[in-house]
This record gives sequence, structure tokens and C-alpha cells, in this order.
Amino acid sequence: MDRKKRSNSGIKISQKLEQLPPYLFTRIKVLIGEAYKKNLDVIDLTMGNPDQPTPPHIVDRLVDTIQNHPRTHRYPQAKGMPRFRRAVSDHMKRRFGVSVDPESEVLTLVGSKEGIAHLASAYMDPGDVALVPVPAYPVHFNGVILAGGKVCPLPLTPENGFLPDYGKIPAKDLRKAKLLFLGYPNNPTTTVIEDEAFFKETIRFAKKHNLLVVYDNAYSEITFDGYRAPSFLEVPGARDVALEFHSFSKTYNMAGWRIGWACGKRELVAPLEKFKAFVDYGVPTFMQLAAVRALEGPQDCVRETVAVYQRRRDYFVDGLNKIGWNVAKPKATMYVWAPLPESVRAKGSMAFAEELLRETGVAVSPGVGFGQEGEGYVRFALVTHDQRFYDVLLRLRKFIGGASVKYGMPPKPKFYSPKNKS
Ligand SMILES: Cc1ncc(COP(=O)(O)O)c(C=O)c1O
Repeated sequence: MDRKKRSNSGIKISQKLEQLPPYLFTRIKVLIGEAYKKNLDVIDLTMGNPDQPTPPHIVDRLVDTIQNHPRTHRYPQAKGMPRFRRAVSDHMKRRFGVSVDPESEVLTLVGSKEGIAHLASAYMDPGDVALVPVPAYPVHFNGVILAGGKVCPLPLTPENGFLPDYGKIPAKDLRKAKLLFLGYPNNPTTTVIEDEAFFKETIRFAKKHNLLVVYDNAYSEITFDGYRAPSFLEVPGARDVALEFHSFSKTYNMAGWRIGWACGKRELVAPLEKFKAFVDYGVPTFMQLAAVRALEGPQDCVRETVAVYQRRRDYFVDGLNKIGWNVAKPKATMYVWAPLPESVRAKGSMAFAEELLRETGVAVSPGVGFGQEGEGYVRFALVTHDQRFYDVLLRLRKFIGGASVKYGMPPKPKFYSPKNKS
């Protein structure tokens, strides 16, 4: 291959990086940019990027801290300030009944994406294998490749209930396997865990094969219809085999703030802490203090955020079904994971997403971007205001040649009021 094709400067980039296709959302953003240039009315449902603002009591804490406490402008403590780690430890106890020592079992992250990506580098050597259920949040497999490891995909399909089948892993991969990625409520399939049996089986499997379970719980609070998502660490024995990753991004609409945490047994957290100490200085102290306010302040903002997604889910999924695109209602996450309707299935998800965007301005994530096993699906993120889903349905109906039925406008939402919330 022509060297110049590999990097703009002509200097050869690492094989690890070269192996990776451009990050899914980077490619989609280019296409969206082109659509804007053509003056299309773009409705962007690609990323799980919350459209609602961070609750005001959290913003107020940030503003007050950064204005009045200049010591918070200094380098933070890389593993997280004690106050933050204590708030996380209290939260894990309150919310899940899980005990983690704030001193040695909680690590502050620059968003859970950062921690998950670096975890692979902290644990893997070239030739080591990570078991990755796919389709997956892309960092689950890309982090492994950047670490020089090998991905062994565990297909999630309707037939296996979107749960990995540990019995089908090739023996040669299992022998070299070190990490097992898991995350429920799942992105992108939206699957939830309703029965502890799968967790118990996972713990037995991880112990038998000496695996670290990397449990990604980014959507633990975005759940509907009374469903409450568990922590993997709730299950007896999980502490011995798992690290769990949490995020403020979805729960408190803080995606742009870049803060999250990892927690678990001291010995399992320590390698990630050591690795990160060479890479970053942690999260700014003023942000950690605002995040403490998020965890310890009123939680009605979380309920309101969830209610907004639930309302959009109901309107949009009902609408999809009316136009003949049959999709089940997800019990959690801010996504709808939709098998392509028969009329457009042959296109494949990438071509579908590109054509849909070019012709209608509606941007969705192609399933194949989450791994080959996601082919045949697209993912809608419920991240634009309610009324826009009426337009989305109109455009989709035309694009897929769907049933010409009437569906009303969504009810006018009561928007979250910044007043009376602090
Ligand atoms: C499954 C999953 N894990 C982690 C993240 C990243 O979260 P954060 O913003 O905390 O880095 C996302 C973001 O979309 C996600 O979908």
C-alpha cells in the first residue's frame, strides 16, 4: 500500500491503529457535515449524546467551585479526590447495596470510555484474547486492538436472547482469553438482564478460565416500565472477577463533562490506576465536586430524564410499528435497535444509513458499525425533541415505502424546568 495513504505526513502509522477503520461516529459526522452543506434539514439520531441539559444544581456547583475555590484549578489527584471517591462508594451502597472501599476500590475516569479503553492496555499483552459480545459499543473491541490484543467475538442474536453463549467459544481463544466484556442494559441491542442466572453462570465461567469481567454499566439508570438495572457486583462472587464502569453522561446529561468511575476489588482496580497515572492527571477537581453534587443532590432530575426518553420511545416505536417497521419497545437505554425492514434489508445497514441521510436528512447509526454481527440493524438514538419524531416517521415511511397510515403528533412535552430544582 502507498505509504501516503496511511497518514497525511507519509510517516507510517502503527499497525494497531492501521487495523482500525475510522471510528464509526467520525465517519458518520463527515456524512452529516455533507448533508448540512447541501442544506438538508438534518435530524441526527446517531450518537447517544443527550440533548437535555445538565441539571442546574450540578452546573451551579461547578460555577461556584471554579469561581470561588482557586485551589481546584490545580492538578487534580489522578485517581480522584477522596471526596469524590467517597460519594461514589456511598452511591454504590445506596443504589446497589454494593460495598467498595473509597480509598482503594474506586477510580475516577475521564468518562467511562477512557477507562474501558485503557483497561485493555493495562491488562493485555500482544497475543492475549478478549471475549467481546458483539454487536458492541465500539470501544469494547477497539480498545483491545489498540492494546495489541485479539478480539474473540461472541455473537449476540435474537436466538440467544442477545446473551453470549460461553459454550461456543473456540478452545484456542479461550485458552488465551484474559478479559470478558459485558454490559447490560446493552448498547446497542438494548437488552436487559432480568434473571440473575446469567450473572451466576458468568461468574462460574470467569473463575474457571481466570477471566476479568469488564462490566460496562453506563445505562444503569436509563430504564423504563419499572425495570431497575442491577450492578454485576451485587451478585455473590462477582467481586473476585469483575470491574464495573459507570458514567455520568447519560444519567445526569453530562456527556460533555467527561467524568465516570471504575470500581471493584482493590487488586483489580490497581493495574488500571497504575496505567492511568502514566497517561493523564485525572478529572479536574471542580468537575469532581460537581459530580459529587450530582450523586448526592436531588434525583428527580434523573427521573425526568428517563421520563423524556420513555415518552419518545413510546411515540416513536408505536409509529414505527404503524408504518410497518416492526420493533419491540426497549426496556432501557436511549436507543431503539431496529432490524431493517424486508423492503430495504438487501441494502445493508451502512448503505441504508447513507442513503437515508442523503435523501431525507435523518441520520442513524448503521448496525455494522457495532461489529459485523450488527449487520441487518440500525440504531436510533432518542436524542432530539419529541416533535421531531413526527418528521422522522414521515421521512422513514416514505423512504421504506411503509404503510400510509395516520399517526398523530406527539403530545406537547412539559420541558424540564431549571427552577425549583436546586
Ligand atoms: C456502553 C457504553 N459505555 C460507555 C460509554 C461512554 O460513556 P462516557 O461518556 O462515560 O465515556 C457509552 C457512550 O455512549 C456507552 O454507550
